[in-house]
Amino acid sequence: MKYLLGIDVGTTGTKVVLVTEAGKVTASAFEDYPLSTPQVDWVEQDPEDWWKATMKGIAKVMGDASVKTREIAGIGLSGQYHGAVLLDKAHHVLRPCILWCDQRTTEQVEYISKRISKEELLRITGNPASYYFTVCKILWVKENEPQVYEKLSHFLLPKDYVRLKLTGNLVTDVTDASGTLLLDVPERRWSSQIVDKLDLDKDILPDCRESIEISGAITKKASELTGLNYGTPVVAGAGDQSAQAIGTGVIKEGVLACTMGTSGVVFAPTSLIRHDDRGRLDSFCFAIPDTWHTMGVMQSAGGSLRWFRDTLCDAEIKEAENKRQDVYQLIVEQAERVPAGSENLIFLPYLSGERHPHSDAKARGIFFGLDMRHHKAHMIRSILEGVVFGLRDSIEVMKELHIPISEIRATGGGARAKLWKQILADVTNSKVITVNSLEGAAYGAAILASVGSGLYNSVNEVCNRLIRVIEETYPIKDNVKRYEDYYLLYRSLYPLLKDKFAELSSL
Ligand code: XUL
Repeated sequence: MKYLLGIDVGTTGTKVVLVTEAGKVTASAFEDYPLSTPQVDWVEQDPEDWWKATMKGIAKVMGDASVKTREIAGIGLSGQYHGAVLLDKAHHVLRPCILWCDQRTTEQVEYISKRISKEELLRITGNPASYYFTVCKILWVKENEPQVYEKLSHFLLPKDYVRLKLTGNLVTDVTDASGTLLLDVPERRWSSQIVDKLDLDKDILPDCRESIEISGAITKKASELTGLNYGTPVVAGAGDQSAQAIGTGVIKEGVLACTMGTSGVVFAPTSLIRHDDRGRLDSFCFAIPDTWHTMGVMQSAGGSLRWFRDTLCDAEIKEAENKRQDVYQLIVEQAERVPAGSENLIFLPYLSGERHPHSDAKARGIFFGLDMRHHKAHMIRSILEGVVFGLRDSIEVMKELHIPISEIRATGGGARAKLWKQILADVTNSKVITVNSLEGAAYGAAILASVGSGLYNSVNEVCNRLIRVIEETYPIKDNVKRYEDYYLLYRSLYPLLKDKFAELSSL
């Protein structure tokens, strides 16, 4: 029997899964690590923590599974997009990684906009300048930490640091590279034009490969540290959203993935690159060669519910501990008692600003319409609804771009909640599907490894064999009608408040 290892370097922790060639997950481990927020709007992580978590995760899955390491045919990597891992000549980390959700780079966005027109940037990179792209972080370091920048020899994306540790190679893949704003996305290679216009040195760029290509093999040192076999191939892999899509079989036009994790994502694979002229969505290379995807990301989806749990749910946290139950289940159950529309309470989920379609780091969260009859359950339901309204904002832009939508696959932690899936079906008036694979991006990374290592011929072949629909949720007519009005009202609020959010942030 052959096995595959999938590793996802996430924001809260690293997940490692061991999967048989027939797609069965035989062991899975999650090792968490902290985020550091040294200043308002700053979010950083120590790349060494990812490596330690990866080593621990590998030890756990190999310990649990009694599988021989020589039976591992390939390793796939996936990870959080956009982070800037900065290395010196000797490949030592120069400073903590500035993460995807860090918001310190407003000035760098202005700098890019002055040097490159919006049209040119969209034509080459598929995206407008926004604070989360890796290049903004590199430019921030150049401006604010010249002593660090002076020593910069290479940069990597988060999962690629783990690759460096495993293979000794400086490689990224086209999906993650799309999130740097330095890639020529239609051509799937680094853009020397953009690199030159931003006065960067092209030598800092890692080698860029297709997701299913081999990027290197386990070195002697990595073999000693992890127990993995020397020479085991490691494929290039993909950014977490691309890998997640692969892991749930979202691989052709018409099928959309809606993910509710910390962030919320609407993801649509496309056979041709389709970017929005107004830059309201991201357009990246997809993990299948010669395909792309359009994506809308909300900063706080599950993150909004987590904030609510941490701020207002001490009782539920205690009860969950006593009953050994999932606290989110106790919280979401309360929302079932409230009708669709939360009796006129609308939540704007902009707790950490918003990415798509507004791209506004200064936007903030709101409970709109609070009155005396509302209690906690209304607030919970309105959070679930507000998050789905935010996802629909991106879906509406996709419709404008003529991206077909025949079904939505619900993924991420939120897909465990029936009520959330029903709200998603009702607000989007679409069939919502749940599939058998719930291991997300790490599983997608293992699928990419199965193709790269030659066990399968294509991602399509693997997905068709391994991924099955296990549940379908259909829209409830009455709710669809009711939500239409609430959505239109929700959508009208941001434009009215945009300037006020900016004013608030300057106080
Ligand atoms: C995608 C993005 C997030 C992070 C979360 O562009 O920034 O999905 O990758 O892990």
